[in-house]
Amino acid sequence: MSQKKVTVVGAGNVGATTAFLIAVRQMADVVLLDIAEDTAKGKALDIDQGRAALGSDVNVTAAADWTATAGSNVVVITGGAARKPNMSREQLLEINVKIVAEITANAVRYSPEAIILVVTNPLDAMVHVAAKVSGLDKARVMGMSGELDCSRFNHFIADALSVAPSKVQSVILGRHGDDMVPLVSRTTVNGKALTDLMDAGEIEAIVNRTKKAGGEIVALLGFSAYYAVGAATVKMLDAILNGPAREVVCCSYAENQYGVGGYFVGVPAILGPNGIEEVIELELGDSEKTELEKSVQNLHKLIAQTDQMLARL
Ligand code: LAC
Repeated sequence: MSQKKVTVVGAGNVGATTAFLIAVRQMADVVLLDIAEDTAKGKALDIDQGRAALGSDVNVTAAADWTATAGSNVVVITGGAARKPNMSREQLLEINVKIVAEITANAVRYSPEAIILVVTNPLDAMVHVAAKVSGLDKARVMGMSGELDCSRFNHFIADALSVAPSKVQSVILGRHGDDMVPLVSRTTVNGKALTDLMDAGEIEAIVNRTKKAGGEIVALLGFSAYYAVGAATVKMLDAILNGPAREVVCCSYAENQYGVGGYFVGVPAILGPNGIEEVIELELGDSEKTELEKSVQNLHKLIAQTDQMLARL
């Protein structure tokens, strides 16, 4: 079996962590691409030098030129500006629309068969940009958001109940923003309903902390999170590179599901080697429906702004 190839665009914290985790798990050869060539070279070399210690057989190389990325199975887009303290993800829109549009055009030029996995914020808008610019089948363009948000939510619940996070199952719908919608009624711990294990006030505190979890880390570090971000990205890559298709929560194209009306947004979906196979539509409670409607309304506004910016490029 020939080795798979993943291009990771952006050698910042998220890109480098993703490349490192791919090497640790021996998932694919990695091309780490950045216009800051020395940064990409230094990080790729550092990861590559750890391969002997890890016993990892995949190659990690750096590039500033897209020719090295040709024939990638997946292009992971992490390039662009990241949040600083007191910034919302939406404040990154203007600068990152241009960057993600350029990256996407190059990605499909050199790897027309690739799946594009977007991580750059504001996430849902950047997936829209990648889909529009690439012209790819919408099943082959997606964003990493829900797996990160669920991983944080599951962690907080597991911590509070002193269980392993792997015992917690949850789904979060909507935008990767403070208006995300954790489905409390569907959250289980060892198969038991969360609502039977914790009181409503405690759950609400965890929901609120989850919504602001990215910001909590930005406030501590002065820059954006990357370990859990890389972990959630690699979880999606595993479904794409290795199959079999499985359920993930991700930013996916939703036509009629959840009343989204033809936009990319966080939903549970079946992801596999051919991309998104199906968006899973769950029954929602009334308050969940109302919250999701708000998140989708905000999304529509964000995408209208994004389209204006794209038209000016
Ligand atoms: C976060 C950024 C990556 O949620 O959006 O930490």
